[in-house]
Amino acid sequence: MLALGADHGGFRLKEAVKAYLDSAGIAYEDFGTDSEASVDYAPFAVAVARAVTSGKAEKGILCCGTGIGISIAANKVKGIRAAVCTNAFCAEMTRRHNDSNILCMGGRVISEETAVELAKIFLETPFEGGRHARRIAQIAEIENGER
Ligand code: RB5
Repeated sequence: MLALGADHGGFRLKEAVKAYLDSAGIAYEDFGTDSEASVDYAPFAVAVARAVTSGKAEKGILCCGTGIGISIAANKVKGIRAAVCTNAFCAEMTRRHNDSNILCMGGRVISEETAVELAKIFLETPFEGGRHARRIAQIAEIENGER
């Protein structure tokens, strides 16, 4: 299961990703928002992030105007590696090297078509492990040392 969320700036991208997931028969839960009316992004970020860290969702996709604010908020949840991606290369590499568990995208930055392309890549690309696992462990160590 995937967890989806967006603010008003990312609403259209979220809806485009949902249409793709429906057509591909991929299960998801939509944590909102449900329109282009202005809302704050942090509550959507935390809802999706906690769905991922609790194991309820395997991965998450979050969208705001730039993808940045919602990624910063999601990354405050322990265990989240949320990555803002604007192209196919970044979407692939953040799975291969960062084992990212949330893809973030910006509705004022990329098209709906690109968002679907990046979502597909993000969902289909495995983590490479190896030396990258050591680097992820170092990130977790930093996180565990913070109070
Ligand atoms: C909302 O106007 C906008 O600030 C938000 O969608 C996002 O881009 C923040 O990073």
